[in-house]
Amino acid sequence: MMFTQLLALGTCVALTQALLSKPTVPETSSFIVELADGQDAASFYSELATNGIAAVSRRNMSYSLFTGCSFDLDKHSTSTIASITKFATVKNLWPNDRRVVETPPDQDVLRVHASKVAGASENHSKHLKRQAANDTLATHVITQVDRLRAEGITGKGVKIGIVDSGVDFHHPALGGCFGPGCLIAYGHDFVDNKTEPYDNCNGHGTHIAGIIAAQPNNPYGLTGVAPGVTLGMYRVVGCSRSVDPDLAMMGINQAYEDGSDIISISSGFGSRWSEDPIAVLCQRIVNNGRVVVAAAGNNGRQGLFPNGEGSPAIGKGVAAIGSVVNPDVPQNLTVSTYSVDSPTGNLSNFAWNVGFRNASIPWAGTWPLYATSRTANITNDACQQLPADTPDLSPYVVLVRRSQDCLINVQADMIYAKNGTRIMFYGPTELTTHVDTFISIPPVGGSVPQSQGEKWLDLLNAQHRVFLEFSPEVDANTANWTIIFSPNPETGGYMSPTSSWGVSFELDVKPQFVTPGANILSTWPLDLGGYQVQSGTSMATPFAAGVYALLIEARKIRDPGTLQRILSSVAKPNLYQEASGTVHPQLAPVAWQGAGLLQAYDAAKVTTLFSVSSIAFNDTDHLNGTQTISVTNTGSTAQSYRIGYVNSATVYTFFEHLYNFAQPSPPVVDGGATLTFSSTTLTIAAGASADLTVTVVPPTGLNATRLPVYSGYITLNSTTASENLSLPFLGLDGSLYSTPVIDPTDQTYMIRDYRGGGPEDFPPGAPPNSTFTVPIPTSAEIPEDLPDQYAIPGIHVELIMGDIIATVHVLLRPLEVNGTVATKESVLGYQVVEDFFINENVYVDARLGFGYPFTGMLSDNKTIVPEGRYEWRIVALKLTGDREKREDWQERAFPFYLRYLNETGTA
Ligand SMILES: *[C@@H]1O[C@H](CO)[C@@H](O)[C@H](O)[C@H]1NC(C)=O
Ligand SMILES: *[C@@H]1O[C@H](CO)[C@@H](O)[C@H](O)[C@H]1NC(C)=O
Ligand SMILES: *[C@@H]1O[C@H](CO)[C@@H](O)[C@H](O)[C@H]1NC(C)=O
Ligand SMILES: *[C@@H]1O[C@H](CO)[C@@H](O)[C@H](O)[C@H]1NC(C)=O
Ligand SMILES: *[C@@H]1O[C@H](CO)[C@@H](O)[C@H](O)[C@H]1NC(C)=O
Ligand SMILES: *[C@@H]1O[C@H](CO)[C@@H](O)[C@H](O)[C@H]1NC(C)=O
Ligand SMILES: *[C@@H]1O[C@H](CO)[C@@H](O)[C@H](O)[C@H]1NC(C)=O
Ligand SMILES: *[C@@H]1O[C@H](CO)[C@@H](O)[C@H](O)[C@H]1NC(C)=O
Repeated sequence: MMFTQLLALGTCVALTQALLSKPTVPETSSFIVELADGQDAASFYSELATNGIAAVSRRNMSYSLFTGCSFDLDKHSTSTIASITKFATVKNLWPNDRRVVETPPDQDVLRVHASKVAGASENHSKHLKRQAANDTLATHVITQVDRLRAEGITGKGVKIGIVDSGVDFHHPALGGCFGPGCLIAYGHDFVDNKTEPYDNCNGHGTHIAGIIAAQPNNPYGLTGVAPGVTLGMYRVVGCSRSVDPDLAMMGINQAYEDGSDIISISSGFGSRWSEDPIAVLCQRIVNNGRVVVAAAGNNGRQGLFPNGEGSPAIGKGVAAIGSVVNPDVPQNLTVSTYSVDSPTGNLSNFAWNVGFRNASIPWAGTWPLYATSRTANITNDACQQLPADTPDLSPYVVLVRRSQDCLINVQADMIYAKNGTRIMFYGPTELTTHVDTFISIPPVGGSVPQSQGEKWLDLLNAQHRVFLEFSPEVDANTANWTIIFSPNPETGGYMSPTSSWGVSFELDVKPQFVTPGANILSTWPLDLGGYQVQSGTSMATPFAAGVYALLIEARKIRDPGTLQRILSSVAKPNLYQEASGTVHPQLAPVAWQGAGLLQAYDAAKVTTLFSVSSIAFNDTDHLNGTQTISVTNTGSTAQSYRIGYVNSATVYTFFEHLYNFAQPSPPVVDGGATLTFSSTTLTIAAGASADLTVTVVPPTGLNATRLPVYSGYITLNSTTASENLSLPFLGLDGSLYSTPVIDPTDQTYMIRDYRGGGPEDFPPGAPPNSTFTVPIPTSAEIPEDLPDQYAIPGIHVELIMGDIIATVHVLLRPLEVNGTVATKESVLGYQVVEDFFINENVYVDARLGFGYPFTGMLSDNKTIVPEGRYEWRIVALKLTGDREKREDWQERAFPFYLRYLNETGTA
């Protein structure tokens, strides 16, 4: 049973909360093995058979970088899985059912609008007519893609393999065909095993293909970042938004075998450990000289060390890509008309965002416009009762400016008090908002950009009357629409709040770069409308793939390490904007924005090269505090550099209450690292290199328990040429080892598992030595029909941080029992009746909850343990700990009494 899913933004958080509130037993039934050298799937299956393990074959993978297969087990136990890992035919084994992340149709722009709105509009025709002769897309301008394109660089001769949901290659902006000579020249459909990776039901891959390589023959003047590339598409996601890891691995392997120079992966698989199989595969691809770009994930609101979505972005050498908000938002607005002075006057178009519709208040009709204020920059429009002389507003559309001083609900109240039921909000920027239904009062609301509101006010102030006219199509949601591009002064160019934070559990620098990913207009399957606005690191990733392609053409370099170092040295960091909108004076942490926003032109031209793309100082236990980098001047003249550094915002991982992750935005704390260098200037002859040694002193005076993450950029400013380079650094001013894996004080781990419905039926926190009286069990599973009054003993384990392979165990130990019970030895020599391992070979992420109920019968489904005193014991290896050292394990015990009801049903 596959448990994978593409994540829409927000879904993952909800899912995590669900896991936390309601205990679940993770069932892993599908696995991937990598075969030992010289073995094939047949020999593996025969070894399974020899060992009496029934398995159903899923997929065989026979590739140059990965030979293995995937299979399903009906039932498994710790011992079964453990024994498979020891097979002669097996090199590695991983579960195949991690949740898979994906790309969300989230519109970050709506967040902006929720507090600020405004409108724009008759000039939208100019946007529609934008031609691609010059690249003027804001996303291309802020990344200097336009400047390379102006030099004729389009990614020619570069092959990009996309592993995603397929592509609508019939789309004219995507070349209109599939196969050699076409834009989409190669690939495969692994979902339906077809030769053509066609997508007419999902859209995700079609959007990605357009971001990389849309051709200019489209109504919006869009072009891809690198329209000269050749694209391959590997369809591993079907019409739903979920993908099986084994299928993704086949797509990635095939993309490599087919000679892709760059592989672009906009899915995430729920592990933040670089030992995850997809991360491992991608690392091998990078080691074999190809670029892999992968989405950092959309869990930004979880703060640091986020859950899920990490692999393959977390892989060493893989370029993890985060997302910034498009500064020029494509707004999909409805087109209606207005006339001046007379309802039958000349009609002009205006574009607006139709809010929540109410059948009893249709928009259809012609309505005079009434403005509650004639001042276009008023900040408290209709925040108080309207004047007594206000007319009955029922025949009007009421124009009101969105306010910083009061909520739109208040404005609607004031207008409705005067019988107004149709409200048109405008301002304070060109971005419109979707006006939702108002609590308990009927008005309907729409919104227009600030400029449209101003235009109407100018007319009203010049003693004209304005009539808005709406067709019945507006109410039916079938009206004409248009895309207008509007500046986003609030969040444009800043990190998208949903873009995942990094830092792997190994404290590698992640993500590498950021590119525009929120509010991106691109191609969509023709059957589904042809174009769409989408948001997420899924959109940022192909953008980065396109920049890599431009760089490969411009510099004639394909080595992924060199390309990453070049891109990193010229990327542009931005200030830290929290999800609340607050902009700090410090740069955003490297753990969020990596090296910063890609700068394609500078990357193509820079002549100074670093030997590394970032510096990881590790945590205080493993401080790698002095590191030497080499700087090479590939230019034709000597260059001199001034060496310096700038700290980014230092942020805490946890809130003050211990071990609660600080989210949605980790808080800034005063204090940054102090860096010293072997010299403050460097002069390097043409073609020569010089070493620079950097020594860090982590910030002092911080609360190490809250795991402060410090970071910043080493800067090299050339005094002879206009080259300004920077190199991101990052460290943890605390100890992973000292951070408990499970909360050492939380008393809610032992639960009374009353079978029921919602979380309230699972009251946590049964005190030590509680007695649980249960019916004589007939199964290790809790019977569906168990009457509500029975309390089943259970344990609910929540991990604070993640943990590694098979190092978290939930043991059930007999203490004093009536009679005898067979035990087996488990981790650390404990004699147990059951080891409810969290999972063999699973890298467990932070913040997950796992529940284990116990009916009295063991998982072999025949042994009923005797009554008596037992204990749950959670045993977990500390992060960076040595499993051979007892003191490196954290343990907690929860004793309880187990009693059975007698046959009369009494205790
Ligand atoms: C493109 O941009 C260049 C440089 O800014 C300008 O000289 C040229 O006229 C532009 N071409 C078009 C078609 O707009
Ligand atoms: C895919 O289709 C090809 C050709 O029809 C067939 O030979 C092959 O066995 C199929 N592979 C799978 C995994 O079904
Ligand atoms: C509003 O605009 C007017 C005219 O442009 C200007 O004089 C006034 O200072 C502005 N008021 C505010 C609050 O910005
Ligand atoms: C609102 O409409 C009602 C019913 O037509 C009318 O009695 C009332 O005076 C109106 N209120 C205002 C403020 O015009
Ligand atoms: C949609 O646009 C077309 C072309 O401008 C126009 O003829 C038609 O009347 C519009 N339809 C509506 C419902 O406004
Ligand atoms: C940090 O130290 C740990 C423990 O030695 C090591 O496993 C990890 O690879 C180090 N991380 C980096 C980025 O060097
Ligand atoms: C704009 O919205 C309309 C419906 O409101 C939809 O049919 C159309 O596909 C959208 N266009 C784009 C480019 O998103
Ligand atoms: C320290 O960092 C250097 C890279 O600058 C790396 O090669 C080395 O392995 C690191 N040392 C440890 C102990 O992680």
